[in-house]
Amino acid sequence: MTNKYMYFIANWKMFGGLNSLNSLNTVTKFFEKFKKSKFVKIIYCPPNTLLESMSKKLKKSRIDVGAQNCHEQENYGAFTGSINPMMLKSVGAKYIIIGHSENRKMGETDNLINQKINSTLKAKLKVIFCIGETLKQKRKKMTKKILDTQIKLGLKKIKNKKDILIAYEPVWSIGTGLVPKNNDLLETVSFIKKKSKNSKVLYGGSVNSNNINELKLVNNIDGFLIGGASQNSKKFIDIIKKTYN
Ligand code: 13P
Repeated sequence: MTNKYMYFIANWKMFGGLNSLNSLNTVTKFFEKFKKSKFVKIIYCPPNTLLESMSKKLKKSRIDVGAQNCHEQENYGAFTGSINPMMLKSVGAKYIIIGHSENRKMGETDNLINQKINSTLKAKLKVIFCIGETLKQKRKKMTKKILDTQIKLGLKKIKNKKDILIAYEPVWSIGTGLVPKNNDLLETVSFIKKKSKNSKVLYGGSVNSNNINELKLVNNIDGFLIGGASQNSKKFIDIIKKTYN
């Protein structure tokens, strides 16, 4: 595990103002000196309001910036309040998170997610494609069926999968402190890799500096998508350090 290329993606969700950017100094300083940095890809996904200033701030670091969602249209249009991938790219985004369960909950369908993935790839950005089952679905032992459907519909007719990272985020694990058992995670991640053909698969859901020592033992995981703990630089750095310890 210690010499594996891993992604550490910070999803700030609807948190953070301009003053939050100061906290990145700690992370850039740490990363400059970190001995294993060549194995580490850090991506910050702040709210859109911070994208431009954050990408400027991180310009000289090897840390990338991404957005948390986008409109499905590739081109400009009369869509009040929406922003398309090309516009996000123009302010420094290199990645876009698509299909997060918090957006699926608000009505985002697999079909819409598929359109967003297409537009993002057309804009030459990379996709962080989120999938995951709810607690109810897990209890009914439907996890694989749900993931299979989300993958099939979300990636429908998409040939170029090399710019897609899949983030497995069980809905019951997000913000709850609950994480899947390592054996279950190992099995689910290999199922996702098989079904999605060759994509990199990250895990997300309550990742923190306490459970990372356990989670890092799941050897087919290619990184972590981190919510709450990513807003605190010290905790975020701790997660990276411990992964390579
Ligand atoms: P938490 O790490 O806060 O559980 O959030 C996970 C998540 O939703 C990342 O996209």
